[in-house]
Amino acid sequence: MQTITVNASRSYCVQIGPGLLDRVGELSAPLVQGRKAAVVSDSNVWLLYGTQVERSLTQAGFQVSVFQFPAGESSKNTATLLELLTFLAREGLSREDPVFALGGGVTGDMGGLAAALYLRGVPCIQLPTTLLAMVDSSVGGKTAVDLPEGKNLVGTFTQPHLVLCDTLTLQTLPAPVMAEGWAEVIKYGMIRSPELLQRLAGEDPAGDLEWVIAHCVTIKRDVVGIDERDTGERQLLNFGHTIGHAIERCGGYSIYHGEGVAMGMAIMTRACVREGLCPKECWTVLESLLNRFHLPQTCSMDKKGLLEAARADKKRRGDSITLIQPQKIGTCVLNKTDYGELSRILERGMGA
Ligand SMILES: NC(=O)c1ccc[n+]([C@@H]2O[C@H](COP(=O)([O-])OP(=O)(O)OC[C@H]3O[C@@H](n4cnc5c(N)ncnc54)[C@H](O)[C@@H]3O)[C@@H](O)[C@H]2O)c1
Ligand SMILES: [Zn+2]
Repeated sequence: MQTITVNASRSYCVQIGPGLLDRVGELSAPLVQGRKAAVVSDSNVWLLYGTQVERSLTQAGFQVSVFQFPAGESSKNTATLLELLTFLAREGLSREDPVFALGGGVTGDMGGLAAALYLRGVPCIQLPTTLLAMVDSSVGGKTAVDLPEGKNLVGTFTQPHLVLCDTLTLQTLPAPVMAEGWAEVIKYGMIRSPELLQRLAGEDPAGDLEWVIAHCVTIKRDVVGIDERDTGERQLLNFGHTIGHAIERCGGYSIYHGEGVAMGMAIMTRACVREGLCPKECWTVLESLLNRFHLPQTCSMDKKGLLEAARADKKRRGDSITLIQPQKIGTCVLNKTDYGELSRILERGMGA
């Protein structure tokens, strides 16, 4: 088991290892005073892991209530959020009582936001069950729901009290969901870690998932420690995301987040190579990893539509936009620019 401490506006531990869901109660009880526990989970994950988590919490003296919602990004909206907040109020949760977010990034984002808003903030414990949520969304305190106008437009920066990544839960993940997690892992390699890229290209990249997750969380910890509120360095974590979110939006959210990110990284990297902004190897390395993890490399959507969707992206600051561009293997840089530049990138990068 690995433990990584995140030092942001709150310090907390991220624990990674097999069997942690059996220890949720024991590990979280010392961190919170309240003994009413609200577990937020989607319909798939609750069925698989709900009983296990409920048992562990009950054994540790928690009185458990459960809020379930239909699985999928389409639930990550203000209507479900409001239902969840109403649920917390009706259950009579106090400021000391914790919310447990058991599931993927959708559950973590929405559970985290509800915990941040209800009574101006109650403790939140993240129990990520997808690779994407373990390496990315459960750590760093970004919480949000979507609006019809764009993804993650309503949210906060609120750090959790604890994150428990039970690696055994990954055994039940459908292959495409696992693949989108690999997209975020590849992202970490591209922005910060030639070592990770090498490992992913090696014989059995999934052989030591605990190492991979811990490596990604360590990178995220370092970036969040410097720039918790996403005004500088943290924006590196958005590599592939500006275009990826636009693709997700134009696809009516039928495309997985990680698939959008994979396409976004590919379009950006191809364009940067073609513009002479980074060596060709940035693309060859990325291309072979995307192939290896069965991730898409381009999309045939309308460029104008993508550009409009990107404008709705929350990362816009007036007319300027920060693009994250590869510079060399394992290094990306921020480029504060305008939408004209993004238009050129789409033009240059979308063709195979
Ligand atoms: N807050 C952040 O910093 C941040 C970072 C990256 C992504 N995100 C958000 O995360 C979301 C995507 O996360 P996701 O891909 O985990 O989506 P998700 O939560 O919808 O999970 C994907 C699917 O896998 C199922 N599932 C989850 N765990 C399972 C398991 N162990 N076994 C079987 N099935 C399981 C879910 O029911 C769902 O159908 C997006 O909304 C994205 O915006 C947030
Ligand atoms: Zn992401």
